[in-house]
Amino acid sequence: MRGLSRLAVLGAGHVGPVIARLAVGAGYPVAIATSGDPQDIALITELVIPGAQPRWASDAVADADIVVLAIPLHRFGSLDPALLDGKLVVDAMNYWPASDGVLEPFDGHASSEVVARRLAGSAVVKALNHIGYHELEDRARPAGAPDRRAAGVAGDDPAAVAAIAGLVDRIGYDPVRLDSLRAGRVLQPGGPVFGVVLTRREFERAVREDARSMA
Ligand SMILES: NC(=O)c1ccc[n+]([C@@H]2O[C@H](COP(=O)([O-])OP(=O)(O)OC[C@H]3O[C@@H](n4cnc5c(N)ncnc54)[C@H](OP(=O)(O)O)[C@@H]3O)[C@@H](O)[C@H]2O)c1
Repeated sequence: MRGLSRLAVLGAGHVGPVIARLAVGAGYPVAIATSGDPQDIALITELVIPGAQPRWASDAVADADIVVLAIPLHRFGSLDPALLDGKLVVDAMNYWPASDGVLEPFDGHASSEVVARRLAGSAVVKALNHIGYHELEDRARPAGAPDRRAAGVAGDDPAAVAAIAGLVDRIGYDPVRLDSLRAGRVLQPGGPVFGVVLTRREFERAVREDARSMA
């Protein structure tokens, strides 16, 4: 029987290593990459994410089933979309004009829709973007824990959303599915669940109230 999906985490800054560590802990084979030489992150990976493999981004992606984009959005343009063709891609990125600068295509849009348009050969799911990296690690709990929190999973492809919901569940959160990338706007900066770590019930209520206020 095949084991869990292989993950490539692109980005070894704040959130990439946390996602990688949670995934290693959940039993996933994990590779992590920056835009540069894996030697540069070999020692830190060994110390901080034991069990993860530092690799060139292209090699990590080629061998992966799931690719997590944990890079600043203003660096997204430097990624070759062809590299990600056929992959299930988790968009964990946010549009932050204060640090990304103004990126016109993203202004006023669901950022993952813009990402998905560029990655036309990939199935893009928005997830793991709305919880800060400290909390993401500290608040992870096994299924059934009374203080387990929720994390949103948004996408246009139900099978892709289901697969990433499985990942989110295994790394420690109750997945709350949103049925389109557009609906995933609630997960982005300014949305009702961005930057707060909520139980499933609180999360669902916040999303409902937001929808009501928009209506
Ligand atoms: N910080 C958080 O708490 C948090 C939580 C959830 C989501 N996010 C989102 O996740 C994204 C990353 O945030 P961060 O705070 O982790 O950023 P960060 O600390 O600045 O780290 C960015 C990482 O991306 C790498 N990188 C840049 N371009 C790359 C490329 N083309 N291929 C592979 N790696 C590349 C950088 O390495 P090199 O420069 O050496 O290539 C660096 O390791 C942002 O969009 C952010 O909004 C952040």
